[in-house]
Amino acid sequence: MEKIVINGGAPLRGSVDVSGSKNAALPIIYACILVKGKCIIENIPNIIDINRSFDILRGMGAVIRTVNKTTVEIDCTNVVCGTSDYNLVRRLRGSYYLLGAELGRFGKARVAYPGGCDFGVRPIDQHIKGFKALGGEVITDGGYIEISTKDNKITPANIYFDMSTVGATLNIMIASAISDGVTVIENAAREPHIVDCANFLNSCGANISGAGSDVIKIKGVQSLHGCTYAIIPDMIEAGSFMVAAAATRGHVRINNVIPKHLESITAKLEEVGAVVEEFDDSVEVIANRPLKPTNVKTLPYPGFPTDMHPQMCALLATIEGISFINESIYDNRFKYIEELKRMGADIKVDGRIVTITGGVPLSAAPLIAVDLRGGIAVLTAALTCEGVSEISEINLIERGYDDIVGKLKGLGADIKKICAPDPVALKKAN
Ligand code: EPU
Repeated sequence: MEKIVINGGAPLRGSVDVSGSKNAALPIIYACILVKGKCIIENIPNIIDINRSFDILRGMGAVIRTVNKTTVEIDCTNVVCGTSDYNLVRRLRGSYYLLGAELGRFGKARVAYPGGCDFGVRPIDQHIKGFKALGGEVITDGGYIEISTKDNKITPANIYFDMSTVGATLNIMIASAISDGVTVIENAAREPHIVDCANFLNSCGANISGAGSDVIKIKGVQSLHGCTYAIIPDMIEAGSFMVAAAATRGHVRINNVIPKHLESITAKLEEVGAVVEEFDDSVEVIANRPLKPTNVKTLPYPGFPTDMHPQMCALLATIEGISFINESIYDNRFKYIEELKRMGADIKVDGRIVTITGGVPLSAAPLIAVDLRGGIAVLTAALTCEGVSEISEINLIERGYDDIVGKLKGLGADIKKICAPDPVALKKAN
């Protein structure tokens, strides 16, 4: 079993480079299905969810060539509709973009139900509402979602979402980029990755306006062509390093970021008393004085991201006094709290409200990464306390963090990854 072993207690110091955004890269690489030609995508993070997505696309007939460590060339000319691997698709959330991409290219789709972190109920009713509005007949059968349209053509429509949803906004944008007419999404999500995907599609010849606001207009075009496009930096990876810097009372410069995307995180760190300095494409976090508790409510962008809630909780557990986190996006994103409690943290959950009585000394322990952001929160807590903590199930962290061990080592952390023994070598040795 692979593990991360941390001998904690030292402040993080130095500088770190942030990789490309997972949640921007996922829709963009699936949107390549719309293009009969080559797309060169730069600033791709080396993480499990992206590598699994490449495997899914290859299995459907895509040719994906590694250009360098962070650049790939994707050619989906020969992709065949409905051929994605059930067992790969169900292992990540972002695979639901296959639905929009197949519908946009072929006028029909057949894809397994997506997977992803378990935060309680994660319905896709808004995606389905959107596909139906585009003229899709949607049936679910044997673990698959199947969409068909009259004459394999979608019908442009006005779609109003009942809540701010990143996935459904992107799926409808992707599905309607190639169409005869105008689709309008109202109450659209406004996350930076929505803008990034629109910019990518526009670079391929699409005509999408309003991304980043709550009304997005997609004027359908007849076809898309290949392009070269660089993914935006990962705001959640950047935020995770910012919070880890504060939690260890360190001093870290985080490079390759868009400071505007980090404003809600910066504001909360300043509220607790950390100093955050912004530069053109980097931020510096300095935590060299006593910190104070605060309250956080997770909200759609530009509010404080739910994907930063567990890390913020780990930080607040190190600050004397009572803090609250109100998780307004997911009904059960709290599994990681049991792990923080193992370390001695005093945290209670009532409904969606987390109450943290901070400042109780944490102690090193054997720990589990229960999900992606929960895993990084537990790792952050382990960095703050003296002694050796071991974290297992680290593949969940590696789903979304590129070289997390190497990057933390570069910041002075005493951390190593222990790889599982190779079963073949082990058998030979025996
Ligand atoms: N929702 C519905 N019906 C739907 C769609 C969403 O009720 O059809 C609800 C969800 O249950 C949730 C809220 O609406 O309560 C927001 O969901 P959203 O659709 O925005 O989330 P998502 O597309 O499933 C993406 C990210 C998540 C991130 C959320 C919110 C990807 C692959 N996933 O999920 O990322 O938490 O947006 O920003 O982009 C992560 O990276 O750790 C992660 C979980």
